Amino acid sequence: MEVAEYARIAAVEDDHWWYKNTRALARDLLSAHLTRDQLFLDAGCGPGGNGAWLAEHGVVVGADISLDAVRFVQARWPDTLPVQASVSALPFAGGTFDVVLAITVLTCVPDDTSAIRELARLVRPDGVLLLIEPAFDGLRRAHDVTVHSLRRYRRRSLADLTRAAGLRVERATYAYSFLAPAAAVLHVAERRKLAEPPGDKGSDTERRRLDGVFAPLGRVERRWLARHNLPVGTSAVVVATKT
Ligand SMILES: C[S@@+](CC[C@H](N)C(=O)[O-])C[C@H]1O[C@@H](n2cnc3c(N)ncnc32)[C@H](O)[C@@H]1O
Repeated sequence: MEVAEYARIAAVEDDHWWYKNTRALARDLLSAHLTRDQLFLDAGCGPGGNGAWLAEHGVVVGADISLDAVRFVQARWPDTLPVQASVSALPFAGGTFDVVLAITVLTCVPDDTSAIRELARLVRPDGVLLLIEPAFDGLRRAHDVTVHSLRRYRRRSLADLTRAAGLRVERATYAYSFLAPAAAVLHVAERRKLAEPPGDKGSDTERRRLDGVFAPLGRVERRWLARHNLPVGTSAVVVATKT
């Protein structure tokens, strides 16, 4: 990820509607699995805000390949244990974690098959893996270049990867359906930036004008997702367990 993006995420992740909604969605999806004194891995944690709330339920390890990310975690989240490591080779014994979480991470890893196998290895029996990754190539935009996203998934491709790693897929859906039209417009509007050499192309974290519209839509969608899947959205979501 471009270095500037760690600071941009750290600056907004407490109150930006997308980050708040993503944490609320993760809480909803994990609610059946959350108890007390559990061990959590926030894989590819970035500045750490999307996983830090899990400290209410135990101990959170935040692992990221970037030293910048680790420094933000140290500065901002004293209850998260930071580890600088690749999600493809994490320094933990198999079955260590009750819950492993990866939000917008596999998309950045060249060999996502190996990475997801590594994440699956770390889930304890009866534990759970939650993946929230960018969806649909046609929704790729400048933000993807900034975060070094290599691909966007379909829910089926993410579920297939997860199954191939030995986990049982409990849920595969899309989220952020209401963002898809805007993302499709940006895909066209920002096509030049997509064709340019890599670099800092700006970030969705800087777009705040529609927060007042998107935040309530996020709440409505979460109510829908509590019972049903969605056929489209800017994120692909998988919840999987280890038997
Ligand atoms: C788009 S950010 C998402 C950060 C965080 N999960 C969140 O939801 O805010 C992607 C993160 O994945 C990290 N990352 C990329 N490749 C990685 C790898 N192989 N191992 C560990 N972390 C990686 C980046 O450094 C970056 O912090």
